[in-house]
This record gives sequence, structure tokens and C-alpha cells, in this order.
Amino acid sequence: MKHSKLLATAFGVAVAGAISFSAQAEELTTFEVVDGTIPVSLTGAPGDAEAGRATAINRKKGNCLACHVMPIPEQQFHGLTGPAIETPGADFSEAELRMRIVDAKVINDDTMMPSFYKNGQHRVLKKFVGVPILSAQEVEDVVAYLMTLK
Ligand code: HEC
Repeated sequence: MKHSKLLATAFGVAVAGAISFSAQAEELTTFEVVDGTIPVSLTGAPGDAEAGRATAINRKKGNCLACHVMPIPEQQFHGLTGPAIETPGADFSEAELRMRIVDAKVINDDTMMPSFYKNGQHRVLKKFVGVPILSAQEVEDVVAYLMTLK
């Protein structure tokens, strides 16, 4: 009994480790920027909105709440650096949102918003050198979540 509980815990840790480092193993996929938008899904498939909500509010992933007020009532202290993100699904097309998550600097070179899907970032934690902050799947999940906010 005790033994199987221990095993389950060890398994849980292994799985959590695999998830939090998922972005590291990934090569960047190629994608096309068309007029400041990315029309095609990075994974070739629609994202999972529920997973995207979790990625957006995860402090070690999207951390969107550091800079944006969003309709996430369970977390306090949303940041005010960026504009409130209340109805992105009505304000933007999916292609426009994908561009802003992948690399907002294509739209505004001076933006403080991180480029979430880009290599060669400077002055980042060692584990992020040469790897994107979010995986292609996580980008698509966040885009799918934003599209639900209309
Ligand atoms: C370090 C701060 C910061 C973080 C973290 C951040 N953003 Fe932003 N974001 C900004 C700023 C500042 C802008 C304003 C546009 C600009 O600077 O060009 C912006 C703009 C946007 C816009 C366009 C809004 C508009 O009305 O123009 C969207 C959508 C957006 N962010 C979504 C996100 C999402 C989703 C996340 C998390 C995955 C995120 N942002 C993380 C700072 C941030």
C-alpha cells in the first residue's frame, strides 16, 4: 500500500517534469507571416482553449496576467502594463492573435510583450536560451482560448 503510493508520487513528479520542460525539446516550426498576421496554425490543428487558459495564467508559461487585466476571477493583482484583454476574440482575427503571441515585436518593435515563440532571446534564464517560452501547441492553445473571449 505504502509502496504503491510512493511509486505514484514518483510518477507524478516525472510527468510534471516532462510537461514543464516540453518546450525545450522542440525545434521551431516554420511559419509564414502575412501582413503582420500568421494565418496558419503552427501545429496544423486547432488548439485546446481550456489548456490555453491554464497556459495563459501559469506564471511560468504565458504569465499574461503580469501585464494584462483578463477575465480570470480566481487570480488577483492583474498587471496594468498592457491594455486589458477582455474580448480579444471579437477585437482580433485568429491570425492577428497568433502573430501577437508568437512575436508581438513584428507589430511593434518597442513592445514590452515577450515574443513567446522565438529563438535567440537575449538575457533570459539558462533554460530558455535557444528555446521558445511556449511550444507551438501551447501557442495554439492560448490562441484558441483568446478566441473564446468575445
Ligand atoms: C511583459 C508584459 C506583457 C506580457 C507578459 C504579455 N503582454 Fe500582451 N501586451 C503587452 C503590451 C505592453 C501590449 C500593448 C501593445 C504593444 O505594446 O504594442 C500588449 C498587447 C497584447 C494584445 C493586443 C491588445 C490590444 O488591444 O492591442 C494581446 C491580444 C495580448 N497582448 C495578449 C497577451 C497574452 C495572451 C499574453 C500571455 C500569453 C500576453 N499578452 C503577455 C505586454 C505584455
